Amino acid sequence: MQAIQSPRDLFYYDLCAMYDAEQKLVQVLPQLAQECQDNQAREAFTQHEQETRQHVRNLEQCFQILGSQPTALENHTINGLKQDHDTFVQQQPPREALTMYDIDAGYQSEHIEMAAYYRLIDAAHSMGLQQCVQLFQQNLQQDEAEAKKLATIGHQLNQQVAMSAQAPQQGQPAAPGNVSPPMGQPNVAPSPQGPGQGYYRPRHAQHTIRSGR
Ligand SMILES: [Fe+2]
Ligand SMILES: [Fe+2]
Repeated sequence: MQAIQSPRDLFYYDLCAMYDAEQKLVQVLPQLAQECQDNQAREAFTQHEQETRQHVRNLEQCFQILGSQPTALENHTINGLKQDHDTFVQQQPPREALTMYDIDAGYQSEHIEMAAYYRLIDAAHSMGLQQCVQLFQQNLQQDEAEAKKLATIGHQLNQQVAMSAQAPQQGQPAAPGNVSPPMGQPNVAPSPQGPGQGYYRPRHAQHTIRSGR
């Protein structure tokens, strides 16, 4: 990596870091899809893997516009997210919890990407690199859409788990059939330990559970 002595050098450095991030995400997204129990989440990750492959190509086009080649540069932010994920998997969490974790990890990674693209767009714009601006905007729009999608899916799953945790308190058995899964998704099984003592307690449910601690 050459010395950073100008805004263009900094731009190139940021571009290399983003190129590494997008390439890493192409590797990680299929794993997240495979781990997820929820069909919508699986689909969101699978579709975004394809989009992310295009993000990599768009960044390669930016290098061409700059007349340079990418230099290998580790993106430790994405490495960190991956390590956190692997640490969580080592706890051997139930599939429902892993699904929620993966949705949140995906949501976090999209926001990391978004922050990077805001900066790259601003820098490219100020250097008059309009073609790069357009390519970054394409990537940014898809990352924003993915973040929104994951937020919606995560919220639905949280509500589903909260409902199954509440059901016994309202005098209803927490049988899987009592809770309608949204959009044809599989039910999240109630905790075998009873209400309020489950392995996974979504934030939405916490304030409604008064016993079991
Ligand atoms: Fe991306
Ligand atoms: Fe993304």
